[in-house]
Amino acid sequence: KIKACLFDLDGVIVDTAKYHYIAWRELAKELGFDFTEKDNERLKGVSRMTSLEILLEIGGVTLTDEEKLRLADKKNENYRTFILKMKPDEILPGAKSFLKELKAKDIKIALGSASKNAMTILERLELTNLFEAIIDGTKVSEAKPNPEVFLKGAEALNVQPEECVVFEDAEAGVEAALAGNMRCVGIGSASVLGKAHMVVDGLHQMDYNKLISLEKE
Ligand code: BG6
Ligand code: MG
Repeated sequence: KIKACLFDLDGVIVDTAKYHYIAWRELAKELGFDFTEKDNERLKGVSRMTSLEILLEIGGVTLTDEEKLRLADKKNENYRTFILKMKPDEILPGAKSFLKELKAKDIKIALGSASKNAMTILERLELTNLFEAIIDGTKVSEAKPNPEVFLKGAEALNVQPEECVVFEDAEAGVEAALAGNMRCVGIGSASVLGKAHMVVDGLHQMDYNKLISLEKE
């Protein structure tokens, strides 16, 4: 029986990829190379430091660990200037009404995000109160596809993994859900998220009945 829903944040509840892109592109420019929107796809669901590693690999740049930390901080400062300006109207279509429907049906709700900025974003979107548990990049040591972030979410909600449905837009996130023995709804294209139990374009296509159809017999 499904008792809880665990939501990824970036790409599921809000489109922050565009802000990550601007900040990474600016850093690449300073380092003297181009960073395209297609390159940006590779950073979805990936941690901040791993994102930097991918960026440097694209630019063919080698740096010391100290320099990498400095640049990751710099990118984050820049990224934060964008998210600090976010408003509730940036919540993706259908997300808030689905969260409210789940609440009304007594389905527990948690966040499972790789971002260390998740609290700031939820506050800006005025969504913090809808989550009973928030597991973000400050609370996990293993990145997706490791299931840690979702397993911690299930534990915090006091439910079993088999009773959870994860909503994810990144392939690594879908893999994390499956590795955690959870049901998973992919948000985006079936060609990328084909391993999920169901794929939809966005939360506007979800409702309680569709959720319950994911219950195993
Ligand atoms: C994920 C995003 O949710 O969080 C990634 O999809 C991002 O693109 C990662 O790199 C880490 O985010 P932050 O906010 O801690 O830099
Ligand atoms: Mg995501």
